Amino acid sequence: MSDLTNTIKHVSSPLARQTLLDSELTRPVAGRRPIRILPWLQVVKIGGRSIMDRGADAILPVVDELRKLLPEHRLLILTGAGIRARHVYSVGLDLGLPVGSLAPLAASEAGQNGHILASLLAPEGVSYVEHPTIANQLAIHLTSARGLVGSAFPPYHHHEFPGSRIPPHRADTGAFLLADALGAAGLTIVEDVDGVYTADPKAPGGEQAQLLRETSAADLAKHQGTLPFDRALLEVMATARHLGHVQIVNGLVPGRLTAALRGEHVGTIIHTNARPV
Ligand SMILES: Nc1ncnc2c1ncn2[C@@H]1O[C@H](COP(=O)(O)OP(=O)(O)O)[C@@H](O)[C@H]1O
Ligand SMILES: [Mg+2]
Repeated sequence: MSDLTNTIKHVSSPLARQTLLDSELTRPVAGRRPIRILPWLQVVKIGGRSIMDRGADAILPVVDELRKLLPEHRLLILTGAGIRARHVYSVGLDLGLPVGSLAPLAASEAGQNGHILASLLAPEGVSYVEHPTIANQLAIHLTSARGLVGSAFPPYHHHEFPGSRIPPHRADTGAFLLADALGAAGLTIVEDVDGVYTADPKAPGGEQAQLLRETSAADLAKHQGTLPFDRALLEVMATARHLGHVQIVNGLVPGRLTAALRGEHVGTIIHTNARPV
């Protein structure tokens, strides 16, 4: 009798009898840092408005730089949405579409931009992949290719938070969530400005704006004016698990992206709340 009892494998779970709402109870199990799934991955977010909408003049030099970076880094290149999403937002808002309907419409432009970039990098073995592939098969794809392109928009669709009529979780937030979840080596956000300024440098009076070389998500959260990325990025940076910082660089200046991926400080570094490893 007792032998039989001893050979039974009892499956115990430390969370089995607990409410998941009490952080005191869950912390011993859930409070540990998650593993890094792709620690060698560099994530690069390419701006829709700042780079892709400018056409060949801006895109071809960036493609050239990405091509040269491929032997050095394994890249997940994520594209944002630009002018076409703004147009679709205005048409959709005029028709009264809810935020959850607008989110995938804008996301489809980010996807179009990704397809454009992937076509130009195809000779290097780079393809556009959809979200399910990013979710489940990144490792195998990045083992057979040095880089992949995807949409930076998070696939919230009708799960988008309804706090505002414009989807709050856009390409920068999506790129950060992905890079942090994968435990990537870094995230570089490519814009058409040298980094984050005290005010929009291209708006009237912008010549007074000062470049912030180094700042934190917590400090920028107190910043009242506009920023060159979605404000929700600051919220997800506050709860980062892996990424200690992101760097915003000017993709219109050749060499900046390359330098950033080599760990050089060439734009604005924004620190997250993630603890150092
Ligand atoms: N505080 C700021 N610092 C730098 N750029 C800013 C700031 N506020 C607004 N901008 C503007 O944001 C622009 C980038 O727009 P954005 O919508 O982020 O483009 P993208 O779709 O490429 O990400 C810059 O060209 C700049 O004019
Ligand atoms: Mg931006």
